[in-house]
Amino acid sequence: MQDKKDKLLKRRVEAKVGGGIDRIKKQHQNKKLTARERIEYILDEGSFEEMDMFVTHRTSDFGMDKQLIYGDGVVTGYGTINNRLVYIYSQDFTVFGGSLSETHAEKICKIMDLAVKVGAPVIGLNDSGGARIQEGVRSLGAYADIFYRNVQCSGVIPQISAIMGPCAGGAVYSPAMTDFTLMIEESSYMFVTGPNVVKTVTNEEVTSEELGGASSHSTKSGVAHFTSANDVQGLLDIKKLLSYIPQNNQEKAPDLPYEIGDELRIELEHIIPKDIHKPYDIKDIIKGICDDDSFYEVHKDYAENIVVGFARLAGKSVGIVANQPLFLAGVLDVNSSKKAARFVRFCDSFNIPLLVLEDVPGFLPGTDQEWQGIIVHGAKLLYAFSEASVPRITVIIRKAYGGAYDVMNSKHIGADMNFAWPTAEIAVMGAKGASEIIFKKEIENAEDPVAKWKEKEAEYAYKFADPYRAARRGFVDEVILPKNTRRKLIKAFAMLEGKKIDRPKRKHGNIPL
Ligand code: HXC
Repeated sequence: MQDKKDKLLKRRVEAKVGGGIDRIKKQHQNKKLTARERIEYILDEGSFEEMDMFVTHRTSDFGMDKQLIYGDGVVTGYGTINNRLVYIYSQDFTVFGGSLSETHAEKICKIMDLAVKVGAPVIGLNDSGGARIQEGVRSLGAYADIFYRNVQCSGVIPQISAIMGPCAGGAVYSPAMTDFTLMIEESSYMFVTGPNVVKTVTNEEVTSEELGGASSHSTKSGVAHFTSANDVQGLLDIKKLLSYIPQNNQEKAPDLPYEIGDELRIELEHIIPKDIHKPYDIKDIIKGICDDDSFYEVHKDYAENIVVGFARLAGKSVGIVANQPLFLAGVLDVNSSKKAARFVRFCDSFNIPLLVLEDVPGFLPGTDQEWQGIIVHGAKLLYAFSEASVPRITVIIRKAYGGAYDVMNSKHIGADMNFAWPTAEIAVMGAKGASEIIFKKEIENAEDPVAKWKEKEAEYAYKFADPYRAARRGFVDEVILPKNTRRKLIKAFAMLEGKKIDRPKRKHGNIPL
């Protein structure tokens, strides 16, 4: 026991003194860091101020009174990242599996309360077996105290969770209510109940990695927004994420210095294939529009038919939502709708303008989607855009078909500016499907039905497969050449900077959850 204490104190002193960052990086490139090393590595050197270092738990059951460890399994306090204040907690798995006791929770609640009063992000470095089993209902109540605060902080200050070890029970529910969850590959797990309980209850045999590893949560469940190769990389990734977002909902995200030039991007002229049925990578267009190397993708491996993430335009942070023709032709389905809706709501909560790049053939048809509730999930995205009051601009790149035209930040649901490339097609559906329906009898009665269908398809395409009908109605503000897109967007977002919307008073809307 004394040994453990000595080690802890030694580490504390190291953390106070700082200067160990290079050592940490070198030693731990592929290994797990300790709770203190994680804090030391993510914060500006020497900026950490620890709180409640001498707190111990208050349990005497199961001989716990003989196992008092200073700090009670969590290091809490505040410091800076790139000179901006953050509050942080880091759970120590070596102390009762990082499990959450009443006092452990009190320490976390204390920094959350301060963070919301002061207006600065909370970063949770989670490494915990959940509620401390020896404390019974007191630890359950203590978790609820944190959950309650997660909700009170939501939309007021950014909350970021890193999962840095095996996390179970409450240790995953609190992250689920924060804005972003990052997992470390092959050394972190998230599950409500672990493989042993799964085996007992359902007789299903599954490994921790399959059940709740970074790869499952970043591709299958969507619980993890980011994954990182190791602790060091994960902490760097959180720092990067923070650089795009403001300290609280009253501020704007920090700008990077930028000098405006001609902003022409000729390469954008050559991305879309001539054949409208051929896919292309929307990320090439994002890259062409945004500041160099500024795109930071969120939920990269989940619902890849939509791409979301942060980027900069002339040094200013924007949130991007873009259909991805490379996957499922860029359709909207259940998962992509949920993914995009959540991102839109984050950006709107924290004053980050939204840029939508649209190329969407519609919603994915079929029993699978209908039975999963595409109606209600698609409505989430519609709701999220309709409610967003930040500057909102759409560029229609190619297809804008059917309900998806409405949903993807159309003028009708409050987009401020709507540009279209000359390749845009804005219609109820594609020419082939549309002509089959509305000219059904004519096609059936024709001597050569196939030729007739082709003729009618061409007629429909001629009438509708362009952006000019929409532009004539003012639904599109301007048809622009691809090479001018960046220039137009920089100007339009600058024009919208003073945007303010006063909505009628209400408690809150009822988003279709
Ligand atoms: C007290 C715990 C603990 C817990 C782990 N430990 N979890 N002590 N309360 N919840 C202790 C172990 O006894 C052990 O102590 C040490 O931490 C390391 O645990 P191991 O099991 O040896 O580690 P590992 O094999 O890596 O497995 C990690 C684990 C597993 C997957 C997290 O420990 C586990 O399944 N723990 C229980 C998870 C759980 O069911 N938690 C309660 C959830 S309910 P020694 O002394 O041997 O080193 C909950 C309710 C919240 O959280 C409400 C939700 C809505």
